[in-house]
Amino acid sequence: MIKNLNDINDLSGEQVERLIALAEDILADRAKYQDSLKHRTLATLFFEPSTRTRLSFEAAMLEMGGNVIGFADPNSSSATKGESVADTVRTVACYSDIIVMRHPKEGAPIAASLRSPVPIINAGDGGHHHPTQTLADLFTIRREKGRLDGLTIGLCGDLKFGRTVHSLIQAMSRYDGVRFALVSPEELRAPDYILEGALRRPNVSYQETDSLESVVPELDALYMTRVQRERFFNEADYVRLKDSYILTLKTLERAKRDLTILHPLPRVNEIAVEVDDDPRARYFQQMFYGKVIRKALLAAMLGVSV
Ligand code: CP
Repeated sequence: MIKNLNDINDLSGEQVERLIALAEDILADRAKYQDSLKHRTLATLFFEPSTRTRLSFEAAMLEMGGNVIGFADPNSSSATKGESVADTVRTVACYSDIIVMRHPKEGAPIAASLRSPVPIINAGDGGHHHPTQTLADLFTIRREKGRLDGLTIGLCGDLKFGRTVHSLIQAMSRYDGVRFALVSPEELRAPDYILEGALRRPNVSYQETDSLESVVPELDALYMTRVQRERFFNEADYVRLKDSYILTLKTLERAKRDLTILHPLPRVNEIAVEVDDDPRARYFQQMFYGKVIRKALLAAMLGVSV
């Protein structure tokens, strides 16, 4: 049983495998699960904007027969009157069975889980973690490549503030023979806790570079990310760095024919629209898989036997 999901490391490798297997079954037979979460209520508390994470959780709950309450804008909640996250969660737990929360402050979902009588799922906390995006990424990679081990994965863009990158490195570093190419400007390199933690494992190797072109021929999967404007302290730095990498068809000429191109989305400018029609572009499929694996997660966390 999964109590709370704050960090992808809250899940064992075995639990991830079970979620992927359940997601596969949901994909194969959606009708079988249409009433699985009947009479259960999900609350979505989004203190930061979201399109995919919030709506995919809501769609997942509704498609499994459950109910959804919540807010997409904290300005419409009593947070504007100064109510703490802990009190908000205690309140919402009276009206729901499980809470999905996104917050700009790192650690807010953990703080919430200490006060909450119902399970909390972290839907992104500042520049820290985004474990359910990682589940979507793992499910997509497994479906596209047929495996999670022995892969060379390029992560490109804002590796400093990109929380999806931090969670994905932590998750993929559990698999044998994984090689990472970390592509970023010097100022946006992955934080030390990632370099000194997950990437130091003996089964993992990695290189850091500022050149996407130099590594693209080696890659099995390429995970592009946007530069996280909302995490910068000044606009001038963002403007200088925002277009550091733009993936084009020209860049892909030297890539493997079976490369899988991923992006957690939203995209700003880092993948040219011309790439969308290339069969290697799988980021819209990845977004769909996100809903399916979130269905599996909700069912597992609510203890539904399916
Ligand atoms: N990938 C992701 O977290 O997208 P949203 O910000 O739209 O939820």
